[in-house]
Amino acid sequence: MTKACVIGWPISHSRSPIIHGYWLKQHGINGSYTRQPVEPSSLADFIGCLEGAGYAGCNVTIPHKEAVFGLVRRADDSTERLGAVNTVYLQNGKVLGTNTDGEGFINSLKQGAPGLDLANSRAVVLGAGGASLAVVNAILEQGAAEVAIANRTRGKADQLRMRFGTRVLPIGWEEAADHLAECSLLVNTTSLGMKGQPDLDLRLAKLPQRAVVADIVYTPLRTRLLNEAAARGNTVVEGLGMLLHQAVRGFSLWFGVTPQVTRELRDLVARDIDPDFPR
Ligand code: ATR
Repeated sequence: MTKACVIGWPISHSRSPIIHGYWLKQHGINGSYTRQPVEPSSLADFIGCLEGAGYAGCNVTIPHKEAVFGLVRRADDSTERLGAVNTVYLQNGKVLGTNTDGEGFINSLKQGAPGLDLANSRAVVLGAGGASLAVVNAILEQGAAEVAIANRTRGKADQLRMRFGTRVLPIGWEEAADHLAECSLLVNTTSLGMKGQPDLDLRLAKLPQRAVVADIVYTPLRTRLLNEAAARGNTVVEGLGMLLHQAVRGFSLWFGVTPQVTRELRDLVARDIDPDFPR
């Protein structure tokens, strides 16, 4: 039996077992995918003993993504740039780490907004934390001309420019609404709008109608930002899509089958997030 897991501290809220469990069943694979709580002090031991414990690999979530980066061989340049690992796998006895958050975001956009072409485009990203890093890197890899970043703490947006170069344009939090003119993509990577957090309050009046609006928050499935954008005719992309799509490559690396993100899978996870989601 092939084993994989997700590690974090705490880990009880992770929905990854639902996703991988669905694919294991769908493909008739003799495998398992479990939640493993790993304290920061045990992280190095856990990664070091992964193969001995019979794992093909694992996903990594809060707060371990940066620490695991320092414990594994980095599989690719994109991961090297991010300094964070969300997927660990074994290859010829070596422990490799990669990051699938960026492709998860891009593939979710491709599924939700197939007409969007980011080459030479302008994007506005709200937030400059860990999730923003992966999203900004991915948008730049798609050939965007400019990614404006608005963050409450301006210095963190400035750091992203130092990391990624002059296509990144740090702007003031209050400037975001004015910057929406001529933008093709608006992404919220902050925790604003998440259940239990304040709403994101952004005037969308200047956002072109053809622009796509994405949120990485998926509790609730439809944030106020997405509802407001959809109401004025913008195409919207839910945060749940990124969670589903980031899981694809790990499954393929551990279990040898590249799975699909289907409507049925999306609805399965949506029902776990929102018990009122229609059955
Ligand atoms: P993640 O890994 O999910 O990105 P993070 O690194 O803690 O988490 O980043 C959270 C992001 O949400 C940051 O951009 C944060 O802004 P600061 O850098 O100023 O902290 C943003 N954020 C959280 N609460 C916010 C609030 N009340 N108003 C504005 N931005 C907020």
